[in-house]
Order: sequence, then structure tokens, then C-alpha cells
Amino acid sequence: RRTALVFGGCSTEHNISIISAKAIASNINRESWDLYPLYISPDGTWYEGKTACAILELDIGALLHTASPDDIRHQLQAVTQQRPQDRFSFDFRQAGIDIALPIVHGAYGEDGRLQGLLDMFAIPYTGCDVRSSALTMDKETTKICAGHHGLATAPYRTVLRHDFSKEPDKIVQELETAATFPLFIKPASQGSSIGISKVHRPDELLPAFEEAFGYDTKVLVEDAVEGSEIEVAVLGNDDPVVSVPGEIEPGSDFYDFTDKYVSDSAGLYIPARISAEQKEHIRSCARRAFRALGCSGMARVDFFLERGSGQVILNEINTVPGFTSISMYPKLLEASGIGFSELIDRLLELALE
Ligand code: DAL
Ligand code: MG
Repeated sequence: RRTALVFGGCSTEHNISIISAKAIASNINRESWDLYPLYISPDGTWYEGKTACAILELDIGALLHTASPDDIRHQLQAVTQQRPQDRFSFDFRQAGIDIALPIVHGAYGEDGRLQGLLDMFAIPYTGCDVRSSALTMDKETTKICAGHHGLATAPYRTVLRHDFSKEPDKIVQELETAATFPLFIKPASQGSSIGISKVHRPDELLPAFEEAFGYDTKVLVEDAVEGSEIEVAVLGNDDPVVSVPGEIEPGSDFYDFTDKYVSDSAGLYIPARISAEQKEHIRSCARRAFRALGCSGMARVDFFLERGSGQVILNEINTVPGFTSISMYPKLLEASGIGFSELIDRLLELALE
């Protein structure tokens, strides 16, 4: 079957998507799946053919350590400018595409918009549908749905950019007196921890809001949960496989972008260093969260296990989790007996169910 690997995209996680797609291209079983890379440049232009393959050849993972974001952008542009004839015409039938593997993280790729486009062309695709992608992309709707289904999430409030821009000082002052620090300021829909700040003191609030509003019109102010960060991989449709839980020990104040992709400072523990009972409980929460949000195909469900109370608190659900060599999703499934190539086979087969 001709399998479109769609990657890149218009979000802040463009480069991470290229790294994820590269790992998938190296591990996909080429005898079953005839790989057809489709690269979406940051400006939203789609490329097929040699251009898309050449982007996959770049080692963006290594460049994140050595090159600036601008340098990386220029290198990508140098590739796309060479062969404008590789622009994709959106004639999926002409291209003979049977199925798509959308590995675009963040806005436009993970939030239902790309899924909607593929639906319009009647192309089956891996992962969540439009509705569950859109619901999980927004950290507030995730909390609302999960809470409705009896899952705990951290206490929060939202602030809209429109209200904040009118009276930033009032909003900051209210929080200074009412909030308990530390807390997180997060754009409602972002991935890879971009735009997120952990705020320890009142004077850090204003810059944290300004940073977060650079990415979204809605921002969450969320109580920081003291405890461990636990992630679970879910793979399947109605009766999904739920992996062993893994644990992340942040290398910095929290598991931020640098920690994830640049410094390699975070510690990953698979399985998580928790009791067998806690593992089972978290796995059942992951399954419930997957179902509550209407997910299908795959998702990585992220939790906190609160120190002291032992309460399991849902943090977020990622419907296009990272597939890089350091990413938890493929590692967790591997630890559960499903290797990378088999994982890709299963994802594609699930899309055809
Ligand atoms: N958003 C990144 C890719 C992740 O969740 O792994
Ligand atoms: Mg995420």
C-alpha cells in the first residue's frame, strides 16, 4: 500500500516532526508499506518526491544541539527551493496514496485540522480522528472531559489574551494574593513544553504570561503538582494495548524543551519506579482517559503521581507523541513487547479497521 508519511508542518514543533518522521522512515516495514514522504514546510507548502526525501535525510536531531533555529530554517529552505516542481498538488489519487501516517506535532497537525483534510479526501490515516485530536490539543477541554469521567487533573484557571491585554496588572495582582506557588503558566494548546513557565515567585508572573500569550489566546494557570511524572503509551482502537508506565526525572526545573531535545539531561525510567499497584492504577487511568476523550489509534497519556497523597493526576494527552530516538511512546511500547517496526505496522493496520 502506498503510505504517505506526512511531516513537518506549521507549528512550533516543525523540527521535532522531522526527527519523528525520520525515525519512522528508518523503521517502517518497506515490504508492506510503500513509503511516500510528504513534507509540509513551515509556510504550509507541501512537497513530495525528492524534496520530501531530502528533508528526511537531514539530521535535525543533531542540528538541534549545534545550530540555531534560524540556521536550521535556512537549511530546510535550501532543500525546498531547489525543486519547486516537487510541490504537492493535493491530488492524493493521482499520487496513488492509499493511507496516511500523519506525524505532524502541534497546531494544524495534531489538533484535527490535518485529520479533517485527510477525511475530505477519504484517505484513511493513523491515530486520532478530528474530534479527539481537537479536544486533546486544548489542555482545558482535556481537563473538562477527563474530569467528567472521574479522572483528577490539577486545579487551574484560564486567562484569555483579550482580558489580559486590558488589565494585566489586575490579573497578576489577583494571582499574587490568591495563588499558591509554584504554578505553571501554559498556552492552552502547545506541545513540547514550548511557551510554558514554572513560576516560583509573583514577579515572574508577568513575563510568563507574555511568553504564553505569544503562542495562544488562552492560557492556563495551573497548580504545580509535587511528585513524579509518569507517561503511558496507548495503542489501539476500542480495546487498546496499554504499556507499562514510564517515569521522567526532569534534568531542569521541569521537563522543558531543552530537557527534551537539546541537553539530554532528563532521566527516563522504564518501568517507572513505583509500586506494582500504582502501575496498574495508572494504566487503568490511561485507558480511561483514552476512552473519555474518544481517542483511537494512539496516544501518550501523561500523569503526575502526587507525592504524599499518591493521587494520580492526568496532565495531558498527546495524540501525535514524539517518535524520536529519545521519545517515550515507542520506548514504552518496546518495553511492553511491541518493537518500533511492529508498532508502525499496527498503527497502519488500526487505521484500516
Ligand atoms: N509534543 C511532543 C512531540 C510529545 O508530546 O512527545
Ligand atoms: Mg505534549
